[in-house]
Amino acid sequence: MHTKIKELLQFGTVGAQVEAKGWIRTKRINKQVIFLTLNDGSCQQHLQVVMTPSDLPKALLNQLATGASIAVSGSLVASQGANQSIELHGHQLTLLGNAPDYPLQPKAHSLEFLRSLVHLRFRTNTFGAVFRIRHAISYAIHHFFHERGFFYLHTPIITAADAEGAGELFRVTSLDPMHTAKNLDGNIDFKEDFFSKATNLTVSGQLAAETAAMGLGAVYTFGPTFRAENSNTTRHLAEFWMVEPEVAFNNLDDTIALAEALLKFLLAYLLKTCPAELEFLNQRLLSHRNKEDKTAPMPLLERLNFVLEQPFARITYTEAIAILIDSESNKHGKFAYPVTGWGMDLQSEHERYLVEHHFKRPVVVTDYPKAIKAFYMRQNDDGKTVAAMDLLFPGVGEIIGGSQREERIDYLQAAMQSNEIQDLDWYLDTRRFGTIPHSGFGLGLDRFVLFVTGMENIRDVIPFPRTPGHVPC
Ligand code: 4AD
Ligand code: MG
Repeated sequence: MHTKIKELLQFGTVGAQVEAKGWIRTKRINKQVIFLTLNDGSCQQHLQVVMTPSDLPKALLNQLATGASIAVSGSLVASQGANQSIELHGHQLTLLGNAPDYPLQPKAHSLEFLRSLVHLRFRTNTFGAVFRIRHAISYAIHHFFHERGFFYLHTPIITAADAEGAGELFRVTSLDPMHTAKNLDGNIDFKEDFFSKATNLTVSGQLAAETAAMGLGAVYTFGPTFRAENSNTTRHLAEFWMVEPEVAFNNLDDTIALAEALLKFLLAYLLKTCPAELEFLNQRLLSHRNKEDKTAPMPLLERLNFVLEQPFARITYTEAIAILIDSESNKHGKFAYPVTGWGMDLQSEHERYLVEHHFKRPVVVTDYPKAIKAFYMRQNDDGKTVAAMDLLFPGVGEIIGGSQREERIDYLQAAMQSNEIQDLDWYLDTRRFGTIPHSGFGLGLDRFVLFVTGMENIRDVIPFPRTPGHVPC
């Protein structure tokens, strides 16, 4: 039985006879001694393995190279090296799999290069850290909601609804594209399709979650969502993961408080449980930082602690527009999208100005014009705005979008009509039978991972990114 390297490094006692398995990261060899660093993915640190070259057949020695997998048994001894307290003095080594022409070298590769090898990048220090952190966040999300009496709801991936009404849908069909039946008007006859109607991959589990909240009170979905928006940015994926709580009887203030509590819980959890990963990413950023660049962001750990400790700022959309109009960036024409005034949608450069320059902490913007928000948001008494909230983070921009939902059926139907939303009769039953005020939000998991890891491209925080024109594997 082998022992995980994480356990050996944490609990291993000097003198213990153990077996370790993993992949060789580096090899150093001279006549008397061979040093291997071994990683098995269980933690950030490597185990140092020390052996005598003359104990090993020459053919085997040559195959001990970066990327090869081995099993080593031996005894734990106190380490002379500065990086670890114990090391493994191997008595027996078995080569499990050699790795001739392994494309990763024991040095830092560019992230672009590693993006061309997404199936191998798990074997690097950086991506090991990122994906262990992504796991820890996912686990902590379930923990947070479970402790608060929420029920985890599996909403469908295939749906006939467009929850956001934005029409950025991936069609799901089993029709043969070469021989598709057409209606008399020339349109595709979806009655012939698998579900006898047009279906798509979900853009959000919200509408389904709302129906469940009407019976279960507080629910959350946590799954993949799909958007066919042609946004080739460092913040957009075509397949991304969203966490969506939906709570009966919550108003907009309640949902903002829930969002802030969730984000701070996750930050505190990570600082406690992933110190080695965060420290590694912190050092990575510091070493990449251009010393001349006065605008360089705070070091990662400082940034996480700062966000954890600060109360989030809160402003209305109307106030945000006033701040942006008045900003030096706007007056000097520094925005790519000029601030034209009330009614415009905020671009990510505007969001980041509010967070990074004006408030210098996370900002919640509320009460957006109804024309730029989804049909289900509750109309405010002014008749112009809706009870929406966007939560903006430094470096990333919008990380959460949410709202109080329109619980008055006549208002909702009017909004559906003006947004040309049809076929949601089942959804309207939530308002027909025992309607109540309720609220929820969606947290973009990948954007949050982007923030906590300090990575700069969302393609580097999801294992297998899907973006326009790109499905690596
Ligand atoms: O603001 P959005 O579109 O909100 C909804 O979908 C609501 N139905 C949520 C709800 O109230 N239940 O998306 C929510 C979040 C965004 O704030 C962003 O973090 C993330 O999802 N997001 C994306 N992340 C990566 N790539 C994309 N293309 C994204 N689109 C949205
Ligand atoms: Mg949004």
